This record gives sequence, C-alpha cells and structure tokens, in this order.
Amino acid sequence: MIPQTFTAFYVDEHHNATVTEVKSTSLPDHEVSIQVHFSSLNYKDALSARGMNRVTKNYPHIPGIDAAGVVVEDRSGTFAPGDKVIVTGNDLGTNTFGGYGAFIRVPASWVVALPKELSLEQSMMIGTAGFTALYGIHRLKIEGINPDDGPILITGATGGVGSFAVFALSAMGYRVVAATRKTNQDQFLKNIGANSVLESEALTEVAKHPLLPRQWQGSIETVGGELLDAVLRQIQPKGAVACCGNVLGIEVSTNILPFILRGISLLGIDSAFCKRTIREQIWETASTLPFHKLPSNYYKKVPLSKLGTEIDLILQGKQTGRVVVEHAL
Ligand SMILES: NC(=O)c1ccc[n+]([C@@H]2O[C@H](COP(=O)([O-])OP(=O)(O)OC[C@H]3O[C@@H](n4cnc5c(N)ncnc54)[C@H](OP(=O)(O)O)[C@@H]3O)[C@@H](O)[C@H]2O)c1
Repeated sequence: MIPQTFTAFYVDEHHNATVTEVKSTSLPDHEVSIQVHFSSLNYKDALSARGMNRVTKNYPHIPGIDAAGVVVEDRSGTFAPGDKVIVTGNDLGTNTFGGYGAFIRVPASWVVALPKELSLEQSMMIGTAGFTALYGIHRLKIEGINPDDGPILITGATGGVGSFAVFALSAMGYRVVAATRKTNQDQFLKNIGANSVLESEALTEVAKHPLLPRQWQGSIETVGGELLDAVLRQIQPKGAVACCGNVLGIEVSTNILPFILRGISLLGIDSAFCKRTIREQIWETASTLPFHKLPSNYYKKVPLSKLGTEIDLILQGKQTGRVVVEHAL
C-alpha cells in the first residue's frame, strides 16, 4: 500500500519547487506502484523542474525521468511486491509524476527488472544519461564501429551522457578522445578512461571546408549545434555519429559531402522511447561494466533538499559526472 501522503520535490504552477508532502491520490492510475529509493539528475530533469523548453506541459509536477526502487503493488501481475526495478524514460518525470517523489505509479511496460549484478544506487548512477551513452554505443556497433578501427570522440565529455560514454567505451577497449570546455577536468576524464583530452573549441575553430581531415571513427555527440557540424566533417569514411544532445539548441547547419563522399552515418538517439527488447539488452550490458574502476568522485549523492543547487549547476553546464538523488526511507 502507498501511504496517504509521500515526500516529493514538487514544482508548482509558477515553476517554484519545494520539498513537501503530496497526496497519493494525485498519482496516475497505472498498474505498478513503486517505492522509489533512488533517482538521478539529467539535463531534461532540470528543464522540467524549471518549466523550460516545454519538456513538461502541465504543472504542478514532480520531475525525475529516472527511478529505482521496490514494487509495492502490480495489478498486471508482471512483478511481485518486493521486486527491485528500474524505470527510465517513457513519460516518467516529463508529463507523468516522476522519480523525485518517494512513490511513482506507472504502466508495467515501462518497468525493467533490476539486473542482479547491479544495486539500486548503481542503476541510478547510470540512469538515463548512462543508458543514453550505452544506446549510442549500441548503435555505433551496429554500424560496424570496432575498437581497432580508430578513435571515438566524445563531446560534452564531463557531462552525464559524455562521462558515462567515456567510461563505457574505454571499458569495451575503444580508444577514447574526450572533448570538453572544462580544461581543469583533464585528470577526471583520464581517471574514467579517456586516452586523451582536447578543448571543445579546438573542434570548432576550424576552416568552414565541407570536409576536414579524417580524425574520428565514431562519436557520441552530446552538445549539438556547431559542434555536431564540425564533428560530422571530421569523421573517417564509413564512420558514424550518435547524436543525442541539444545543449547548444536544436538547429544544426551542415553539408552533404561527408555523407555522400565518405559514407558516414548520423544516428539519432531517443532513449526515452527505445524498444523494450533493446532497453533490456542495454541494462544487461550496463550490468557487465567494471564500476569498481570508477573514481569515488564520479558521482555525488544528494537528498531532495539539495536538488535545487544541483539543477542550477547542470543548467549552467557546470556538472561533472553524475548526480544520484537519494530518498529518505
Ligand atoms: N536523446 C536522448 O535520448 C537524450 C538522453 C539524455 C540526454 N540527452 C541530451 O543530451 C545532452 C546531455 O545531457 P546530460 O544529462 O549529459 O547533460 P549534462 O550533464 O549537463 O552534460 C552536458 C555537457 O555539455 C557540455 N556543455 C554544456 N553547455 C555547453 C555549451 N554552451 N557549449 C558547449 N558545451 C556545453 C558540458 O560538458 P563539457 O563542459 O565537458 O564540455 C556539459 O557538461 C542534453 O542536451 C540532453 O537533453 C538526450
């Protein structure tokens, strides 16, 4: 049973957030009720929490596109009370009350069993950011991008998606080049697996030629805009770019020559609506990664009361690594 009220990071009609008690009758009428132990902070959560970019259409709202916890009740019969589960993406935390509430209620089709090798906390260290990085890698592999064929460039490398991509690709044996604006985070990036680090500006301060020297076999591009344009012109023949981010906006201006003279591919990543079979496969891949190799400062754990500060930092592009949100049980 869900208690009559539960604690949540609650955003009102004016986009002001408070940590407060919310009536459980305000949860939607879906099949699976889950007590949330951990959530995480992604760029999209910050947009939702601040009423930006129409990520969330209706307020009051409880953000949190990620949740990991324990099943309280499942009317579909798919899960048993006490099962440890993960919910990421779909509509969670965008227009359905999300993981910044101590309880959620969602359709069974959104719920994935926690792989036994992972803890609930680890699953939220991964969260949508890590899942997106792994989805991008999954797509690059389908394009035949192998560890021996050349370096992979990660942009926005200190961010959630970027840093997890650096770690995962390195663990899979790829040569990883991390591009960042945070020149003081060189050691952090090397500690999580980058073979080398370059300043993002070096990528864009290039001639406006339609084709540039072939540097990268593949890329996980998390920033968009002029960075995506520059990366596309630097990809080796038959290479591919998995594009997921729009930190620099939704517009991109490019040209056709990298596509028709080098046969490169631009792969769109939409982790929220990834097919369920692929979603389960990606969580299985996540569970095989060597998390013991991550430095202890890769993520920080914060209570709901500290979320506001972390949201400010991610919107300013100042986060490094991941933020896990811990509910008081
Ligand atoms: N399509 C999907 O399924 C999907 C899923 C998850 C996330 N996303 C998108 O992917 C992007 C990254 O998400 P995230 O959660 O990883 O966010 P994040 O932690 O804030 O990472 C974004 C990184 O981009 C870089 N950056 C920020 N502002 C910049 C600017 N003005 N110019 C150049 N670089 C800038 C920063 O890295 P450096 O300082 O290291 O350069 C920053 O850490 C967001 O646009 C998010 O909406 C998409």
